Amino acid sequence: MSLKNIAIVGAGGLGKEIAVLIHQINQQELTWNVVGFYDDTCSVGRRIATHLVLGKVAELNKVDYPLDVIIAIGDPSTKSEVVSKIKNQNVTHPILIHPASTIGMAVQLGAGSIITAGCHLTVDIEIGEHVLINLNSTIGHDARIGSYSSIMPGVHISGFVQIEKSVLIGTGASILQHIQIGAGARIGAGSIVTKSVAAQITVMGVPARVKE
Ligand SMILES: CC(C)(COP(=O)(O)OP(=O)(O)OC[C@H]1O[C@@H](n2cnc3c(N)ncnc32)[C@H](O)[C@@H]1OP(=O)(O)O)[C@@H](O)C(=O)NCCC(=O)NCCS
Repeated sequence: MSLKNIAIVGAGGLGKEIAVLIHQINQQELTWNVVGFYDDTCSVGRRIATHLVLGKVAELNKVDYPLDVIIAIGDPSTKSEVVSKIKNQNVTHPILIHPASTIGMAVQLGAGSIITAGCHLTVDIEIGEHVLINLNSTIGHDARIGSYSSIMPGVHISGFVQIEKSVLIGTGASILQHIQIGAGARIGAGSIVTKSVAAQITVMGVPARVKE
């Protein structure tokens, strides 16, 4: 079987971890050939997690062969900005799922979404495009997560939770059932969210409140 070429956008800490994720997918089933990283702030030729930085994001618009590109950027607004810069029909965005995660029944995943190790998604779940679900997170039944959102490690999202696009949920946060979180909202690490959160608002703490 021929390997599929993949590039990682973002040569920071998350980019390194996505390189590990791809390596671990390959250990389970040889699938990907990592061509290297693209990053606007990192020097070309630098070696990150054994792969080279090949250029800035705009260089991806010159690629003349089929290339899968995964966006390894945590901040939702930077992530959506970077995606909008890539306009090349040769580029597609794969879905990456770590073999040690479980995807239950009727789970829809959008292009470019990443499920890292130890995550569990149960049933009737809708995940948008370029969503990150990071280490050891759980997503309950009937939950919806909008495009570009980033769910940091150890987050628990309960049943019927509705999360709009570009939401950041910090490490270790828990979202109680039926909560709605508006677009661009940020949930602080360690928070317990007991009430719905409006768009563009930051909440934190137990129970989560807007920081005065
Ligand atoms: C909530 C968050 C987005 C706010 O970021 P910010 O706007 O830059 O806020 P600041 O760091 O300036 O902190 C503002 C205040 O909130 C407090 N604060 C920040 N995060 C907090 C949290 N998660 N819980 C409780 N208080 C918090 C700070 O101590 C500070 O308090 P002070 O004004 O009394 O000194 C951020 O702190 C956070 O939790 N991000 C998630 C990080 C994460 O999960 N990273 C995972 C990497 S894998």
